[in-house]
Amino acid sequence: MKQITFWMMFIVLSVAFFSCRYDNEEDLYGDAICDTSNVTYSNNVKPILVANCLSCHSTANAATFGSGIKLEEYSDLMIQVNNGNLVGAITHASGYPAMPQGGAKLDDCTIEKIVTWINNGAVNN
Ligand code: HEC
Repeated sequence: MKQITFWMMFIVLSVAFFSCRYDNEEDLYGDAICDTSNVTYSNNVKPILVANCLSCHSTANAATFGSGIKLEEYSDLMIQVNNGNLVGAITHASGYPAMPQGGAKLDDCTIEKIVTWINNGAVNN
């Protein structure tokens, strides 16, 4: 009888422990896996730039707000990709102005997507 009670307790506690563990919101959403497969310029990189950067770095606004640095056209963006300034700025690497200027750093997954796109050849896809 004592043995059965022990096993009952063990099972109940195990279930309680694991259900807590796996329903934990942080595990589900916090450090959720960053999906960098199939990252493309048009589906991923461009929308990130539109949402966070083009207010200052659009072709029209760059002279006034973006220190002349344009990120709207692919060919302009590629200048900042190839000279390393884009990654330096968004990762807040020392020696680069931290971007977005005056705003919060992009989240890790967003940065990872841009870096993955560059590592895949920064294709205009
Ligand atoms: C509020 C306006 C503003 C926003 C928003 C902004 N930038 Fe900038 N950005 C600037 C200014 C101003 C400079 C020039 C800063 C300097 O030289 O100190 C700059 C410089 C840069 C540079 C050149 C860095 C270098 O080493 O010379 C890059 C690349 C850049 N920004 C990328 C971005 C990206 C990517 C975003 C969005 C994630 C962004 N910026 C958002 C204003 C902005």
